Amino acid sequence: MMTETLAFTDGCLELIDQTRLPAELVIRRCQSVDETFDAIKRLVVRGAPAIGIAAAYGVLLARDPDGSVSRQSYYDAIDHLAKSRPTAVNLFWALDRMKAVIDSVPRDEPLAARLLREATAIHDEDRQMCRDIGRHGATLLANCHRVLTHCNAGGLATSMWGTALAPIYHLHAAGHAIEVFADETRPLLQGARLTAWELAEAGVPVTVLTDSMAGSLLKSGQIDAVIVGADRIAANGDAANKIGTYPLAVLARYHQIPFYVAAPSSTFDRHLADGALIPIEHRDRDEVARPYGVQLVPDAAKVINPAFDVTPADLITAIVTEKGIIAEPNQEKLASQLGW
Ligand code: MRU
Repeated sequence: MMTETLAFTDGCLELIDQTRLPAELVIRRCQSVDETFDAIKRLVVRGAPAIGIAAAYGVLLARDPDGSVSRQSYYDAIDHLAKSRPTAVNLFWALDRMKAVIDSVPRDEPLAARLLREATAIHDEDRQMCRDIGRHGATLLANCHRVLTHCNAGGLATSMWGTALAPIYHLHAAGHAIEVFADETRPLLQGARLTAWELAEAGVPVTVLTDSMAGSLLKSGQIDAVIVGADRIAANGDAANKIGTYPLAVLARYHQIPFYVAAPSSTFDRHLADGALIPIEHRDRDEVARPYGVQLVPDAAKVINPAFDVTPADLITAIVTEKGIIAEPNQEKLASQLGW
């Protein structure tokens, strides 16, 4: 049984502190909206679905300055948490669901129990979506034994099991020989620190490579398929994911290796026509220039640090959702499968 990425216990949001892995498994407790905001912004909790679930629970921690809870304090919490990170649409999807509950409950009725029920539903639905993605994705990877992934789209990025890693867990549990090649994923090393950690914990063979090694591996026939997660997928199938995903998709196409994206329906943004409209988070220069306090870049040099890039739909062999597989995705196919 895997460790739960997050839980809401006794009025407190408990998170595996992903900034501390793999060195130590530490649970971080958030007791306020500000602590939840900070945890999302600093990537204590990260990965599109996990951010949405954490934010939903975070709304429950709203308090007025005098310690009481009002309808307005919940609305303020939603507005504040929505500013924590811009790219993963699951954050806004979850907060919109919490807001809809507040809007729908009559003013004289208590809200807390209704909001807890909604946040718990978001969490439970994510578990089911990950399981279903695993089941559908396993059919795509049924003849694959060596799969490459980027960043962490595993259990740590969701409630459990993940999106891109869910088919791998599914196949591994069924006795299918499968091993994972994990890009280290510069600059924050989610692949090296998190994907490698959770796969090793689950007993799935995993090999870490630096991002720049992926091309050679694909060229030499050592990889059967590439599978990644997504932070936001536009209406035409263009998919934003961790920086470095797009060049991997180009390499996969060049070497005629299937490139799969796995994501729940909560990751789709039907309101954005294409990927050029997806807001891309730019993070602090020190994540590149001074990782772990070690200066790698001279102060005089500029640094760019976009956290995500966008892979055009025509480089994606198929998108796997909890509802099934969308081969060669385009707007019509997405609308039809997702019921838009
Ligand atoms: O900056 P992060 O670590 O939150 O980025 C996460 C990713 O890019 C994941 O691949 C994506 O959220 C999918 S998680 C199932």
